Amino acid sequence: MADIKTIGVIGAGQMGNGIAHVFALNGYDVLLNDIDGERITAALGVIEGNLGRQVAKAMIKSDAAKTALARINPAGDFPALADCDLVVEAAIENQAVKKEIFGTLSKTLNKDAIMASNTSSISITGLASSTDRPEKFIGLHFMNPAPVMKLVEVIRGIATSKETFETTKTLVQSLGKTMAVSEDFPAFIVNRVLMPMINEAIYTLYEGVGSVESIDTGLKLGANHPMGPLELADFIGLDTCLAIMQVLYEGLADTKYRPCPLLVKYVEAGWLGKKTGRGFYDYSGAAPTPTR
Ligand code: CAA
Repeated sequence: MADIKTIGVIGAGQMGNGIAHVFALNGYDVLLNDIDGERITAALGVIEGNLGRQVAKAMIKSDAAKTALARINPAGDFPALADCDLVVEAAIENQAVKKEIFGTLSKTLNKDAIMASNTSSISITGLASSTDRPEKFIGLHFMNPAPVMKLVEVIRGIATSKETFETTKTLVQSLGKTMAVSEDFPAFIVNRVLMPMINEAIYTLYEGVGSVESIDTGLKLGANHPMGPLELADFIGLDTCLAIMQVLYEGLADTKYRPCPLLVKYVEAGWLGKKTGRGFYDYSGAAPTPTR
């Protein structure tokens, strides 16, 4: 079984910084890459803040936080990732972009390394076909926020080898996370169930059944969800929610997965949720306020 020591993470956004954080905190050396160098610098600041949050909550010692941060180094380009044992891609949820990344990475990454995608919905088999090593390709789907959430969804493509799966299984265990194995179908397990619920919550708002506040309070207090579905949609990013609904709609060819027109409109407006300061809530003030 492959011995994983150094891990490359491509994409220093919301998921990429959380994934880098988790690997570093569990003793792996991490090389963090992004198309935009400034995003790597920003991500290191976010990781430092989130490690500090764990220290403040007495979940980890301050020495462990310092050591973890020191284990993460920037990688300016793909050749800088050449010696990694595993590379996890966490770029935007767009198949063409991901295929381009894996195709380019194949040219310089050492031949024994495993490639993984953190895609939340896109075919692992399809992404693997853009690489030089479909047998060493796997889906490794962390939940947001990665340092907090206990689950990692693991998805085998049609060509993924048993060895790649076993190495991935050991890796997930070493992170103290629990694995759920999904077959390679659109949006896998978590988002196949979660996204239609979020989409339905947006329909509930669109049809005037309830206000943002009533819908979120309803699910928080009525179903014991830690966040209401609209708050969660803002947290995930409305562009990501729409992209996943589109994969479900097109991949399963069933109208029950049609994205709510209100979700489409918000994304068209650039109201992508927390990351842009506005979605179903406005985040410009001290506390989020509903926008409808
Ligand atoms: N690292 C990173 N972020 C952290 C963190 C850490 N160590 N600890 C807390 N956070 C974040 C929270 O996300 C939140 O962000 P803001 O600071 O921007 O507001 C904030 O810290 C709140 O932290 P609190 O300590 O006040 O809150 P909490 O610890 O009580 O709970 C939570 C936070 C764990 C996120 C909880 O609200 C929760 O479980 N929410 C639901 C999350 C969920 O369902 N995630 C899955 C989304 S689906 C997915 O990820 C799949 C996909 O492909 C779309």
